[in-house]
Amino acid sequence: MKSTLVSREFDPEAPPQNILDSLLPSEIRTAAAAIRGVLGDATEVLFSLMLLEEPSRESSVGTPPERRVRVVTLDQRTHMTEEWVVALPHGEVVGHDNLTARGITAQPPIVVDEFIEVERIVKESAEWQAAMRKRGVTDFEIVQVDPMSAGNFGFENERGLRIVRAVCYLPKNLQDNAYAHPIDGLVTYVDLTNGQVLTVVDDELFPIPDEDSNFHDDNGVVPRDDLKPLEIIQPEGPSFTVDGWKVSWQKWSFRVSMNAREGMVLHDICYDDDGQIRTVVDRMAFAEMVVPYGDPRPSHFWRSAFDVGEYGLGALANSLSLGCDCLGSIYYFDAYFCDAGGNPYTLDRAICLHEEDFGVLWRGANWRQGGSWVRRSRRLVISYWTTVGNYDYGFFWYFYQDGTIQCEVKLTGIIQTAYLAPGDSSPYLGRVAPELAGQHHQHMFCVRIDPAVDGQLNSVVEVDAVPVPMGPGNPYGNAIGKRSTFLESESEGRRETNLESGRVWQIVNEESINEFGSPVSYKLIPAQTAMMIADADSSVARRAMFAKSALWVTRYNERERYPSGEFPNQHPGGDGLPLWMEANRGLRQEPVVLWHSFGTTHFVRPEDWPVMPVEYVGFSLKPFGFFRRNPALDVPPSSTCH
Ligand code: CO
Repeated sequence: MKSTLVSREFDPEAPPQNILDSLLPSEIRTAAAAIRGVLGDATEVLFSLMLLEEPSRESSVGTPPERRVRVVTLDQRTHMTEEWVVALPHGEVVGHDNLTARGITAQPPIVVDEFIEVERIVKESAEWQAAMRKRGVTDFEIVQVDPMSAGNFGFENERGLRIVRAVCYLPKNLQDNAYAHPIDGLVTYVDLTNGQVLTVVDDELFPIPDEDSNFHDDNGVVPRDDLKPLEIIQPEGPSFTVDGWKVSWQKWSFRVSMNAREGMVLHDICYDDDGQIRTVVDRMAFAEMVVPYGDPRPSHFWRSAFDVGEYGLGALANSLSLGCDCLGSIYYFDAYFCDAGGNPYTLDRAICLHEEDFGVLWRGANWRQGGSWVRRSRRLVISYWTTVGNYDYGFFWYFYQDGTIQCEVKLTGIIQTAYLAPGDSSPYLGRVAPELAGQHHQHMFCVRIDPAVDGQLNSVVEVDAVPVPMGPGNPYGNAIGKRSTFLESESEGRRETNLESGRVWQIVNEESINEFGSPVSYKLIPAQTAMMIADADSSVARRAMFAKSALWVTRYNERERYPSGEFPNQHPGGDGLPLWMEANRGLRQEPVVLWHSFGTTHFVRPEDWPVMPVEYVGFSLKPFGFFRRNPALDVPPSSTCH
C-alpha cells in the first residue's frame, strides 16, 4: 500500500514562529546549558522532564511573553529533585525550586536511560540470580527485564527512595515475543537512589511457559491470499495546508504541538463560520492515564502505570517512518525532545496528518418524486502512536465538515501475562494459551479540555432525557422531558455518566446568544465508558481519583495542569482534582476546564493473543446551537458519485 509524502518546509534551526510551537533543538540545548551553568559539573544530573511553559490563558492579551522552558532534574549526587524555569532565547534561569528540600518525596518521571540501569542492577543481584537458578535459568543475558513504576504502598524501607519494580521474561532469542514466557511469581524491587536491589519478592515457583507466540511477518502463519489492492489516490494532493505548526483544513484551523509528557497537544481550534473566525477549544490534550491491574497476588497487586506522569506519552512516542496505519497524502511533523543528559534529539515523523473518506455526510431521498441528494464525508485525521512497554496506544483526533470533533484512542500491542497451569482457573485471570493468562485490568484516560466556545468564558450544563409523569399535561404518557442543570460551582463539578438518560454535557457561552435566543454551545458526548473498579481507599484510586468519575469541571488555574498532580510517580495520593476542587470556585461564565475520564475494562480473551486487535475508546464534541443550520450544506457533490 503506497502513501505519498506531502513535502515539508520546516527548519528546526530557525527561531520559533509562535509562542505555542513545540520546543526546538536549540532551545533544549540552551535550557540545559543554563541549568548546568548553575549546577557546575553536572554530569550526574538526570534531565527527567523538559516542557515548554505555555503562557497562561489569562495573560493572552497584550504583548506576548517570552518563551520559557520548565525543566525537572534529578541530581544523582545529592538525590535532589529540582524544578527550573528558563527564559528563552538567552537561557536565563528565572525560577528554581528544590522539591526535595521542601519535603516533596514524589519522584519525577522515569527516563529511558534508567530502564537500562534497572536491568544492570537486577542482573548483578546475587539474590535475583539465585531465584533464577531455582527456576532453571542460568543464561541471564537473554532475560528481559521490564521496569515498572512502583506506586506507593507506604512501605517503610522505600521512604524517600526512587523505586522501580522489575518483572522478568525469558525469550528464546532477541526477536521472540518475551511475554509468552513470563517468569511469574517473582518481582525485584530496585532502589535507583542507591543503585541496588532492595527486595526480591520470590512468591511462588511457577514453570516458565514454553510455547512460542510470535506475530512478526515470518511467524509461520499462512497469509490469506484473497486480498485485492485498495489504493487511496489524491491526484491533486491533500486539502489541508500546514504553516509551521498551524494546520488549516476546510473551515477548521488549529495549532499542534508535541511535548514529552502529554504527547500531542491541540491549541486554538477555530471554525470559519461564513468569514467569522469562531473559537471552539483553547487547548486539548491527554493530561493523565492509568492502567491498574486487578490481580491481588504479591507479585501482581502493585501493577499500575501512569503513562503520562510516570513515563510521558511524548517521550515514548514512535517514529512513524516505521509505518503507520494511514493511507493517502501524508504530512508528518517531527518532534524534538531532551534526553537524560540534557541533549536534544529528533523524533522523525512523530505526528501524522492526513484526510480520510468517511462514508455519508448527509443524505435525503424523495421517494414520491424520485431523486436523492447525498454528500460524502471527509475527515481530517491528526494522530500519533506511543509504546509503553508491552502496549501500543494510538491517539487520534478527527475533524469533520459538520463541526464535530472526535477523539479516539486505539489500544493494541501485547498484553501483560501470568502463568496459569493447564486446567486451573483464577477469578482474576483470563486464559490466552495453554499455560498463559492475562490479568484483568483497566485502561483509564483523562483528557483535559480548555474550551473556548465563542470566547474564553464558558459554563457547563448537564443534560438528561427524563420521563414525565402521566397526568393532565401528559395524558398519554409519551412526553420526553429534557432536564438541563447548570454546574454552578466546583462542589457540583464532579459528574458521572448516565446511560439510561443519555447524559451529555453542554459547554455553553451564556453571553453569545444564537439567532433563536439560546446560548451557543458544544456538547461533550461521552462513550459508554468504564470507571475505575479499584476500591476508593486503595492506593491506586487515591492516586488516580480522576478515574473514579467521568467528568470533573474546574476553574482554570495555570498551576493546575495534571489531574493527579505534577508528580504522580510514587505519590501517596490526594493531589490534583479533589484537592483543587475544595476551593469550590464558581463555574458560571468563567474560564472552565473539563477533565473527561473514560476507559475500558479489559477481561483478556484468547483473541487478544499473541497481539491484540485494536480496541477503541473515546468521545465527541458536537455543535449544539453553535451554527444557524447544518454547517455542511455547502459541501459539493463528489465527482465520482453521480
Ligand atoms: Co488491555
